[in-house]
Amino acid sequence: MIKPHGSDSLQPRFVYDTARHEALSKEAQSLPSLLLNSAAAANAVMLGAGYFNPLSGYMNLADALSVAKDLKTTSGLFWPVPILNITKESGIKAGDRIALRDPNVEGNPVLAVMDVQGVEAVSDEQLRMMAKEIFGNLDEKHPGVKTFLGLGNTVLSGPIDVLNFSYFQSEFPDTFRTAVEIRNEIAERGWKKVVAFQTRNPMHRAHEELCRMAHERLGTDGIVIHMLLGKLKEGDIPAPVRDACIRTMVDHYFPKNTVMITGYGFDMLYAGPREAVLHALFRQNMGADYLIVGRDHAGVGDYYGPFDAQAIFDEKVPKGALQIEIFRADNTAFSKKLGRVVMMREAPDHVPDDFVALSGTKVRQMLGAGIAPPPEFSRPEVAKVLMEYYQIEDARKA
Ligand code: ADX
Repeated sequence: MIKPHGSDSLQPRFVYDTARHEALSKEAQSLPSLLLNSAAAANAVMLGAGYFNPLSGYMNLADALSVAKDLKTTSGLFWPVPILNITKESGIKAGDRIALRDPNVEGNPVLAVMDVQGVEAVSDEQLRMMAKEIFGNLDEKHPGVKTFLGLGNTVLSGPIDVLNFSYFQSEFPDTFRTAVEIRNEIAERGWKKVVAFQTRNPMHRAHEELCRMAHERLGTDGIVIHMLLGKLKEGDIPAPVRDACIRTMVDHYFPKNTVMITGYGFDMLYAGPREAVLHALFRQNMGADYLIVGRDHAGVGDYYGPFDAQAIFDEKVPKGALQIEIFRADNTAFSKKLGRVVMMREAPDHVPDDFVALSGTKVRQMLGAGIAPPPEFSRPEVAKVLMEYYQIEDARKA
């Protein structure tokens, strides 16, 4: 199986040893504690689950600045996005051992124990410099920029030991998986070659066909649909609804044992190209050989060019820095002429009218009004789940 990033075997930060877990949980009750922001909590979950291998904890300022600018830590490890615990709290000192509390779970239970190695002030100018590199812009309307610039001005760095997976395991017991679990399941299924699909949406026909095309063209044994289960921006579809859509689609339209439906606990950054590289890195950690990267991957609004998230792999990822490869998908849509979903570059004789194209806004309006989008756009079984959701949503808002 493909090796994890930066080490021979996966080194998740979750404490699997029960005696040690018990001792740490007990110790945590008497440690000074810090209420994390959601971004830092999501980083802890990813570190715990092995997705951020080989990192042992949160980066210090020098590493974060270096990663933002040059996509590598000061010790030369390739990494595309700073993994930070930025806080507004004061009073924590280097050398402290602290309990990190979960902002996303009632009662703020301890998520992890941290050995604080560094406490550093980060200036607004440094934060803006990093945001510009990560998100490609400084527009406060960009959801990722807005979150990043509002986290605080103190960087806490050091290793963590993770005690649970926040709300992900309890809310998504059938879908949330650690990188360790996915590696194990790939091995159990006997899959030798695996393609991963990142998504934060219910899967429409274009998504479905992208998976099928990648699977067939690459000759993989299986597809791991790996959906984001963390926080999204206002208006995006909640994870349980997306999960139901994806399960319905896979049940109806994929042969048994070709798809694994899984999810990971991370908040969406909307960092387009940089996030695509992070996506590839953590799919390598979960054992995938390929990641599908299509149009406007991890994008929002029109902040990124449609294929910037593919170009970055040529421009900023040195050869050999990652072992996982990307499957580059062109804009995909249903061709009325051919009666199937195609990549547009593979239908050079087509004019725009030859494709079934619907804007997100139009689809949203139709679903809210109880009108199913055409089957060329969305499978009827998937449309049904979405119509039910939007009708309840709209009634709630009215
Ligand atoms: S993302 O934020 O997770 O990238 P989404 O779930 O919509 O959003 O997309 C999942 C993957 O499918 C991404 O790689 C994206 O580029 C790709 N994709 C979605 N729709 C299309 C399409 N019509 N044509 C080509 N690629 C697409």
